[in-house]
Amino acid sequence: MTKDIIILGIESSCDDTSAAVIKNGWLLGQATAGQEVHRNYGGVVPELASRAHEQNILPTVDTAIKRAGINKEDITAIGFTRGPGLMGSLLVGVSFAKGLSVAMGIPLIDVNHLQGHILAHFISEEGKENRHPEFPFLCLLVSGGNSQIVKVDSYKKMEILGQTIDDAAGETIDKCSKFMGLGYPGGPIIDKLARQGNADAFEFSKPLVKGLDYSFSGLKTSLLYFLRDKMKENPDFIEENKCDLAASFEKTVVEVLMKKLTLAVKQTGIKRVAVAGGVSANTKLRQAFIDKRDHSGWDVYIPPFSYTTDNAAMIAMAAYFKYQDADFCPLDLPAYSRVSI
Ligand code: KG4
Repeated sequence: MTKDIIILGIESSCDDTSAAVIKNGWLLGQATAGQEVHRNYGGVVPELASRAHEQNILPTVDTAIKRAGINKEDITAIGFTRGPGLMGSLLVGVSFAKGLSVAMGIPLIDVNHLQGHILAHFISEEGKENRHPEFPFLCLLVSGGNSQIVKVDSYKKMEILGQTIDDAAGETIDKCSKFMGLGYPGGPIIDKLARQGNADAFEFSKPLVKGLDYSFSGLKTSLLYFLRDKMKENPDFIEENKCDLAASFEKTVVEVLMKKLTLAVKQTGIKRVAVAGGVSANTKLRQAFIDKRDHSGWDVYIPPFSYTTDNAAMIAMAAYFKYQDADFCPLDLPAYSRVSI
């Protein structure tokens, strides 16, 4: 009889403290503590984030283990997010994982946060559809800090085919929300407003970048100047048009992302396409994937909402793959704030 592999995953790269237990690829339990403290500041404040992680990490890990219905002695190995992320936040999870691995005498596995987002597509969950992509596949990875098209050849061989040369998609949407005085994080707010708006009401300039890379900084500036000019004529312009503005801006971002992804599919001949990261929660982007499935024959993989934002299940899943290769890490491994996929 083969031995069960039970991985405890720990994620603390930004403002969510998350812990999850995965057994042989199946999610047993997860707990995530968000941080409301940043709302008043219009963005994540690194110092406050690391303090909140310190407070949250022990109860979060404890809850995840209880929800999983296991004893902590059952855990085979600990996976943790090594980076990229905020250094002060990462250090809390990294140190906790190291301490626990020493105390329990079990292996430690470092996980690249971005790879974790992609490998979330392999998590199995009781009562869910559990469709997993076969290798190779393409993945549009879109979050607050990253916008990339990744060719995934195996769980550890990933190649960036194209990426943003300036702002990430999520960052662009968050800034759009900020310009319009709508709050943070902007993604869910813009998404909600856009659903009630006319996406053809306004037109914003689309970036002209060659190949599979993209740029969002011009689009951001074009919105800023457009709003400034309109507000001069009518100070209530944003309030009166916020749904149409959100819908038109969101449409432009999604069109830019899908145009390059379509080009990547053409160039590689790979029609198995996944989406991952915080922005993959976006209604219009998810619909664009469904349209590609229905009209262009793509085999699409859209994650459940629970895996779009930062979560420890994806970290445990990535660690589960590495465990099978005995790909463990030493105790003196440092966290990385910046690291590629
Ligand atoms: O992956 P993530 O949780 O964190 C990292 O950046 O690592 O992504 C957060 C980003 C934010 O920019 C947030 O505004 C965006 O994902 N986001 C959305 C939606 N939900 C979250 N963007 C568009 N539509 C959404 N529904």
